[in-house]
Amino acid sequence: MDFDIVIHSGTIATADYSARGDIGIRDGRIVAVAERLAGGVRRIDAGGRIVMPGGIEAHAHIAQESSSGIMTADDYLSGSISAAFGGNSTIIPFAAQHRGQSVDDVIATYSQRAAPSVLDYSWHLIITDPTEAVLTDQLPRAFARGLTSFKVFMTYDLMNLGDGGMLDILTVARAHGAITMVHAENNDMVKWMNRQLADRGLVAPKYHAISRPELAEEEAINRAIQLAKLADAPLFIVHVSTAGGAEIVRREKFRGAKLFAETCPQYLALTRDDLDRPGMEGAKFVCSPPLRGADTREALWHHLAMGTFESVSSDHAPYRADATGKFLNGAEAPYPKLANGMPGIAARLPWLFSEGVVGGRITLEHFVALSATNAAKTFGCTTKGRIAPGMDADIAIWNPEAERVMTLADQHDAMDYTPFEGKRLTGVPEVVMNRGTVIVEAGALKAEPGRGRFFGRAPVDLRGRPGVTLPEFDPAQNFGTGLR
Ligand code: URP
Ligand code: ZN
Ligand code: ZN
Ligand code: ZN
Repeated sequence: MDFDIVIHSGTIATADYSARGDIGIRDGRIVAVAERLAGGVRRIDAGGRIVMPGGIEAHAHIAQESSSGIMTADDYLSGSISAAFGGNSTIIPFAAQHRGQSVDDVIATYSQRAAPSVLDYSWHLIITDPTEAVLTDQLPRAFARGLTSFKVFMTYDLMNLGDGGMLDILTVARAHGAITMVHAENNDMVKWMNRQLADRGLVAPKYHAISRPELAEEEAINRAIQLAKLADAPLFIVHVSTAGGAEIVRREKFRGAKLFAETCPQYLALTRDDLDRPGMEGAKFVCSPPLRGADTREALWHHLAMGTFESVSSDHAPYRADATGKFLNGAEAPYPKLANGMPGIAARLPWLFSEGVVGGRITLEHFVALSATNAAKTFGCTTKGRIAPGMDADIAIWNPEAERVMTLADQHDAMDYTPFEGKRLTGVPEVVMNRGTVIVEAGALKAEPGRGRFFGRAPVDLRGRPGVTLPEFDPAQNFGTGLR
């Protein structure tokens, strides 16, 4: 039987090797990888190009209300299109529970919202209200549908669970093989800083960075890890922005915590000086955790190269710099009233390829791991994130030499700015496929709205991560409590 598509003459890059070769695709899957493949209804010449797994964007806010109820500018159509232009084949945005809402209702709501997606998608659940019914009934039902990860917050008054709530979620997650993701910032430290600054009238965007100190992240990362160790549950620290936080992650991985972590391009590219632009320009750079100093940015690059982080994710949180987004509470709103977050779903991979691979800070293979393969492993995307027979034909073909300057128009999102405007880039994803369908080619969208499909995910793979048994849970030492 012939192939539907053969991608030939490219350099195939995976998380552990790169070599010249051809890829045969049939019925949306990779069915052959070989030095040379004949045939193919369509043959795509990848001469001089790098052929890699399409990116998996595992941290994005799409068609989601912020903690204060502001809707993102991107819906699943614009969000998925933007992701595809940025070299992604798959997205795993968040499906967020409001307090009082059932998880079943959350899934039904996001099923409707996601219908127009041009890319395959799954969701991480955000849990803000872990009632008994959520813990014992609704979450197990969600796991059975393949939602095997969820995010909890240690900050924001309307979202943070407190340590006890986190322990409850971690325990349920452990029982089902799910992984808990955490936004780690100490809420009371931030609120206390907000009062200090407000008392002095210091409410311009630049004070956002001061209000969320590095200590607040470091303290919360450490606390989250100790909670996860007590429950012997896996934990994923999202958007690590501090060197201190990264050091704790490294240390605790060594000590046996079942720990995963990511950082984001904004923490590797920008600094808090970007918040200090004239007028309210700085509002575009308000995100949480906030941008840090140049020394922290360089330290995060070292951690990235050393392997502290499994992934680099965008934390795409698209709130326009107008009255629908950042300035819903007024054109001169004090920083605590600005929508938190910045866009970057299309920028993540081109920027990381350029600065990381072309810039000589990470290898091409590490780039593939950070952009797709590790997220597939961590989040149970068993048919995605790899180039091998049997996998979905989720593939991006990159021109590693093309040069451009980043612009808003290139992002193809619903935003009115990109924080990466004007950055010089080398390397462009020219063809992006999802399940063998070309989504983007020659700078144009080729896919129909609604072709993307929901996919359920497998439990977190903890092989090679032995974890810790605390004395309290060790039958030999627990004074006969029966705890384990
Ligand atoms: O500032 C950010 N990152 N906004 C999105 C929500 C979150 O905390 O991830
Ligand atoms: Zn967050
Ligand atoms: Zn986020
Ligand atoms: Zn374009």
